Amino acid sequence: MEPIVYLNGNWLPLAEAHVPVLDRGFIFGDGIYEVVPVYRAVPFRWLQHLARLERSLAEVRIDDPLGPEAWTAMVYELVDRQDAPDQFVYMQVTRGVARRDHAFPAAATPTVFAMSTPFPGVPTEQREHGVAAITLPDERWLRCHIKSTSLLGNVLARQQAVDAGAVECVMFRDGRLTEGAASNIWVVRDGIVMTPPRSHLILAGIRIGLVEELCLQADVPLAVRPVERIEVDSADELMLTSATKELIPIVSLDGRPVGSGSPGPMYRRLRAAYDAAVEASVARGRMAPAAVASAIADGVRA
Ligand SMILES: Cc1ncc(COP(=O)(O)O)c(C=O)c1O
Repeated sequence: MEPIVYLNGNWLPLAEAHVPVLDRGFIFGDGIYEVVPVYRAVPFRWLQHLARLERSLAEVRIDDPLGPEAWTAMVYELVDRQDAPDQFVYMQVTRGVARRDHAFPAAATPTVFAMSTPFPGVPTEQREHGVAAITLPDERWLRCHIKSTSLLGNVLARQQAVDAGAVECVMFRDGRLTEGAASNIWVVRDGIVMTPPRSHLILAGIRIGLVEELCLQADVPLAVRPVERIEVDSADELMLTSATKELIPIVSLDGRPVGSGSPGPMYRRLRAAYDAAVEASVARGRMAPAAVASAIADGVRA
C-alpha cells in the first residue's frame, strides 16, 4: 500500500504528493531537511533533531513554517499513519515556489514535506562484521554544518565510495578528518575515542551528542578535537554514526585492514550502550508536543 505522506498541511498517498517545478528546492536545492529514526513509534533524540531543524532553517533564513509543537504533532501523526514500529522520518522544508531568480523571492510560502519509511534495522552483516570505506579529499562547500538539501558534493563522494566497492568515504580537508558523505567518523587510538569538533566543516550529527553522553556514562575517554590524517591511518578502530546506520565499525580503509580488521572492543562497548539508549528512549515514550516546545524554548544542544 502507498505510504501516507504530509505535504503542506495535507495527508495523501506518496504517489499523489506533487511539488511544482518552480519550487526552489527543485531549481536551486534551496532547502533543508532532517532524518529521524523512530523505534517502536517513539522518535529517537527528537528534541535534538528538532533543534537542529530549527537551526538549519535559521541559517538559510527560512521562517519556521510550523513551530516546535506543530512539528512534533505532525511527526507523531505521520508515524502513527504507518504500519511499521521502527521507521525513518524524513522532513524537508524549501523556500517555496517562485519565479526563477537566485535572490530570495519577496513573498514565498515554504514547502513542507514529510514521509516515513519502515526501518528494518541496520543489516546484521554491517553491525557484526563492519564495512569498508575509502578516503577522499573533502571537496564540499564551507557551510557543512547546515543540513541542506544541496547535497551534490556528498552524493558524488558517496558514489565514489560505492564505485570502489565501499559503503562510505572518510573525508579530509587540509590533512584533517572531516566526516563521511552521510555520517560522522570516530577514531579509536590507545583506548581514546576521537572525533572532530563541531564546526562549519561538518554536520553536527545527532549521534555526536549521543556518543559523547555514552562515553561519559561508560567512563570511556573521549577527545573531541581536530584529528590528523596520520591518526586515522594508524587507528586501532574506526566507526561511523548516522541516523540510518546507527553506529557501525569501519574494518577496512582503502583496502587495508583497520586495526585487527574486525570490529574492536570499543565498538562492542559503545554498540551495547547505543542499544541500551534506544531501549531507554522507548521505555520513556513520547514527549508531549507542548513539553517539546518548552524544552526547545529553553535551548537544546545538538
Ligand atoms: C554529512 C553528514 N554528516 C553526518 C551525519 C550524521 O548525522 P546524524 O547522526 O544526525 O544522522 C549525516 C546524516 O545523514 C550527514 O549527512
